[in-house]
Amino acid sequence: MRILSGITSSGECHIGNYFGAMRQHVRLQGEGEAIYFIADYHSMTVVRDAAERRRLVREVALDYLACGLDPARAILYRQSDLPEVCELTWILGSVTPMGLLERSHAYKDKVAQGLPVDHGLFAYPVLMAADILIYGSDIVPVGQDQKQHLEMARDMAQRFNHVYGVEVFRLPEPHILEGVAVVPGTDGRKMSKSYDNTIRMFWPQKQLRKAIMGIVTDSTPVESPKKTDTTLFQLWSLFATPDEREEMFERARAGGLGYGEVKKDLLARLLDTFGPMRARREELAKRPDDTEDVLADGARRARALGAPVVAAAREAAGLGPAR
Ligand code: ADP
Ligand code: TRP
Repeated sequence: MRILSGITSSGECHIGNYFGAMRQHVRLQGEGEAIYFIADYHSMTVVRDAAERRRLVREVALDYLACGLDPARAILYRQSDLPEVCELTWILGSVTPMGLLERSHAYKDKVAQGLPVDHGLFAYPVLMAADILIYGSDIVPVGQDQKQHLEMARDMAQRFNHVYGVEVFRLPEPHILEGVAVVPGTDGRKMSKSYDNTIRMFWPQKQLRKAIMGIVTDSTPVESPKKTDTTLFQLWSLFATPDEREEMFERARAGGLGYGEVKKDLLARLLDTFGPMRARREELAKRPDDTEDVLADGARRARALGAPVVAAAREAAGLGPAR
């Protein structure tokens, strides 16, 4: 079984990435041939500075390794070390109807917000499909927000296979972590690197405290009963067992529980959960060459896995001389 996923290096990883994706990636690494990559081509629609792009790739690589990604058991590579995906993007894009891409939430949201959109963002799902299909991936573990992109990848694979009459691409299955749907950000919207609403697991304590104290709450007085389907309780619940949650929610409903107390407890739990990973990250950060070696080795291994699919797609489409 081949497992494939990626994270865009458009910012530093946050607890939404961790609970929605990275934790699951680390768990899955023993269960098949796991391939994870840092999507720096995808970052190009957001990050427009060369040094910053490279810095963010290093940060995300350190985050992954600190969270337990083991290069002996999983491949970790930088997307742009495999420019073949760009060729596959063109091959797939040529059989992708405009209408399919026009339905993309990511694209539609930007347009709805009146933000400028470039072709890169419009074609983003095609590049993502190429990332997935290049390995004949069976399972693609991602958060709920990426589900539509996976459906599009399946559509593109099907279309190519149909148009050229050859089963070149295998249809991937999404694998969405149950329990964690979308982690909210401090402002109540989806936590995202694109919004200023993240909580980063490896921030210094002071910065973490500031972010947590800034989580939006209503103005219910301490004595009054509290609603529990709110951002603060959703975030707190990420770090609690079902029994602890039941107990806390009971207290909230009874009244007398202050938001400040919940925030303090959230900070303590967060520091506790990520403490060992933070220590590992600090060690890894002292040896940047080692991380670069992991990525280079990952790219070599990924290329060997992807090459046959690219060759088959070229052959099916009649690109280059016949084999
Ligand atoms: P961001 O929105 O912060 O740029 P990415 O789009 O790079 O994050 O997402 C990387 C992975 O993390 C994806 O699998 C995505 O589903 C997951 N993810 C991102 N944000 C969240 C969130 N708020 N809740 C749950 N999962 C998330
Ligand atoms: N678009 C994904 C995200 O922002 C990252 C990504 C790029 C990805 N290519 C992928 C995830 C292929 C899974 C498979 O999260």
